[in-house]
This record gives sequence, C-alpha cells and structure tokens, in this order.
Amino acid sequence: MTSITDAEFREIVSYINDNYGVNLEKKRFLIEGRLGHHLASLGFDSYHEYFEHVKNDATGRELANLLNRLTTRHTFFMREEKHFEFYRSHTLPWIADELGDTDLRVWSAGCSSGQEPYTLSMVTLGYLKERNLRWDSVILATDISEGALAYGSEGVYPAEEVETLPTAWRNEWFERIDDESLRVSRKLRANVAFKKANLLEPFEVRNPFHLIMCRNVMIYFDNDTKSRLVSKFYDALTPGGYLFIGHSESLSSIKNDFDYIKPSIYRKPPVR
Ligand SMILES: C[S@@+](CC[C@H](N)C(=O)[O-])C[C@H]1O[C@@H](n2cnc3c(N)ncnc32)[C@H](O)[C@@H]1O
Repeated sequence: MTSITDAEFREIVSYINDNYGVNLEKKRFLIEGRLGHHLASLGFDSYHEYFEHVKNDATGRELANLLNRLTTRHTFFMREEKHFEFYRSHTLPWIADELGDTDLRVWSAGCSSGQEPYTLSMVTLGYLKERNLRWDSVILATDISEGALAYGSEGVYPAEEVETLPTAWRNEWFERIDDESLRVSRKLRANVAFKKANLLEPFEVRNPFHLIMCRNVMIYFDNDTKSRLVSKFYDALTPGGYLFIGHSESLSSIKNDFDYIKPSIYRKPPVR
C-alpha cells in the first residue's frame, strides 16, 4: 500500500480542516487505511497525485468520495435517548401549547446515515397522533457525506440495528425486506428531507428553527470553528428554541448567549 509522506499528510489535513472543520491531525493511520488502496486502484502512485486529481475534478465526485471515506459516521437509532425524552416532554409541548405553531422546524445537522432524524421523526409523529394534531412536520437532515445521505434516503437498515427500537415502533415504521434488513416506511421517509450541506458554509434561514440537533459533529472542530457555528445556530433558532449537542460535548469553552438547561441541552432565551 502507498504510504503517505509528512508533506502529503499535512496537505490533506489542512484542506479538510479549513474547508469542513474536521480535524484529522491524529488520524494518519485512518487516512492511509481508508485511502491507500483506493488511490492505488485509481492508478495513482502518490497521495499528492491523487489529491491533485481530487482538487481538479470539476464534477466534485472524487471530493465527495474522499469525504465519504474520511468522515466518521458512527450513529444509531435512539442514540443518547434522553434528548428524545426531553424533546417529547418539553420541546414539542412548548411548540404546541405556548407557541401554537403548526409548522415544526427541526434540523438534524450532521445527520449521518439517518438514524437520528428518523428517531426524531418517530417521536414527533407519535406525539402528533396522540394529541390528534395535524402539523407540517418534515424534519431537515443535512450532512456533507453524500454516501451517508444516500443511505439515509434509501432507509434500509440491518435488522439488528432496528431491533433496538420498541416493538410498537418497529411494527409501525418499518417494513421487512428479508431476514437481514428492514426499510423505513414510506410515510416516515416522506417526513425527513435529506440535503447536502457543509456547516462551515453560510446558511440562510427563512423560518427560524424550534430545535437544532448537532450531536457528535463539533467534537471534531477546533474552538474557533465551533464558536462560529454555535453563533450561527443561535441566529438560526427562534427565541426559546433549543440546541442539543452530544452528551460528551459542552459549550463551556466558547463564548455564547445560550441559556444552559442541562448537560448537552441549551436554549436561546425566550422573549419575555
Ligand atoms: C459521528 S457522526 C454523528 C451523527 C449523529 N449526529 C449522531 O450523533 O449520531 C458525524 C457526522 O457529521 C458530519 N460532518 C462532519 N463535518 C461536517 C460539516 N462540516 N458539515 C456537515 N456535516 C459534517 C459527518 O459527515 C458525519 O456524518
């Protein structure tokens, strides 16, 4: 397998860090493991040659491929379950009873292969059904990885992943394909809109969100990048709107205007 030189390693690390915020400084083995065979199979003799090809490929296909290979996409249904309980017991009742809004604006930012937005969607649709509410409830799910987004839109998951969900949910929201896999029902798929978006780029928000979930994404960002993104999230939320980050993350190292609610849950101050 082709080995990477120090200069090539630094070039790839800074490109990914500058453009996507992902810090790969300690991931030399990961880069070699995930790119080595790939670049050889394309006929390149060095990382430098391959990387020139990535940058010059006007279709953007090889850059997408590179991002698919280098991003960490680990996720699962009901991950960090307490967030979904809080969403059900606080966020949704706040929207229904205090705001009286009927268009739900929830964003799963860095959604990976879809388990997070589908979990949000199952909780939402369950809540609406129970309270007999009719809302426009589509959840926005974005990521930079095209591979992850394609997986999520397809909505086919291994049976052992789906088995972790309550039986009633499995029965209501999944269709069995075969012994090994199940597919998210058409209704649930229609309730999640997958879109490609780089969180480091500016985003325009016409209707501010009730909730932004950005979990286990900023973990790879340095403090400046994180700080800029948290301030953009603040602006993108409606007053009283929530920001959920990963359980192992915190905003304590950066200046921000959020109210701290409990570990990993923050709120834009409501208008009083
Ligand atoms: C570890 S996964 C987290 C998935 C999910 N939020 C969870 O907590 O289970 C991190 C995701 O962030 C995405 N990501 C990393 N940098 C990003 C960026 N600059 N813009 C958008 N998505 C990004 C990766 O592609 C990956 O799918």
